Amino acid sequence: MKIGFIGYGSMAEALASKWVEKHSLFIGGRNREKAEKLAKKLGKAVEFGSEKEAASFGDVVVLATPHEAVFDAIEAAGGSDAFAGKVLLDINNPVELSDFLAKSYDGVSLAEAIAKAVPNAHVVKAFNMCQAKVWQMNPPKFDDRLLVVMYCGDDEKAKQKIAVLIEDVGCEAKDIGDLKYSRMLEPAAAIVIKLLFSGHGTYTVLNLIQPEV
Ligand SMILES: NC(=O)c1ccc[n+]([C@@H]2O[C@H](COP(=O)([O-])OP(=O)(O)OC[C@H]3O[C@@H](n4cnc5c(N)ncnc54)[C@H](OP(=O)(O)O)[C@@H]3O)[C@@H](O)[C@H]2O)c1
Repeated sequence: MKIGFIGYGSMAEALASKWVEKHSLFIGGRNREKAEKLAKKLGKAVEFGSEKEAASFGDVVVLATPHEAVFDAIEAAGGSDAFAGKVLLDINNPVELSDFLAKSYDGVSLAEAIAKAVPNAHVVKAFNMCQAKVWQMNPPKFDDRLLVVMYCGDDEKAKQKIAVLIEDVGCEAKDIGDLKYSRMLEPAAAIVIKLLFSGHGTYTVLNLIQPEV
């Protein structure tokens, strides 16, 4: 797959480092030097440049800025038209650190608000539930069980692509349905973030356990 990143922070690095062997990557953002730094760190022929170039490069485009910057980043990438037909991967947690509650966008989730702003893209929500270091575990395994990554979206083909990318991180993919179920994933991540900020270790996760009986 061709994957463009908008943002070159912790999450971009964690996910890109898992995908770089198998996929073609482009690291994009508002600062070319910082994008280049991560591209070079990834160690292969990873391309880098602007938000616009990242959006144009990717069949899958990862929105990897702080949640407050997502809509500005979409505009910087060329607006809604720049994402037509693409899979837009929303990894963001719109969680206010003042009270650890997930923000509501007029009653819907951030993922749904993105889908409304970029109606020709296929938005999938995934990878928001764990700290970046968990995605770097090789593989993310807890008590001998793989981490189960819940994801949701309205387009089946887009979700199949993200399921492959979840498996490429070394996790088990679990489709939880339409994009509206991101209204549950975003507050679920808020629980984890609250725990992390109250002193739980970096590798704290909520996992789906399905024991053999
Ligand atoms: N870190 C985690 O453990 C984690 C886990 C799950 C989900 N998430 C979510 O993933 C998203 C990214 O988190 P992160 O930890 O990777 O963030 P980060 O390390 O702080 O990196 C954020 C990136 O966004 C860029 N950026 C900031 N403001 C921007 C703007 N207005 N326009 C364009 N780019 C901008 C930054 O570039 P500059 O350096 O140029 O400012 C940087 O490349 C967040 O929404 C977060 O909620 C994070």
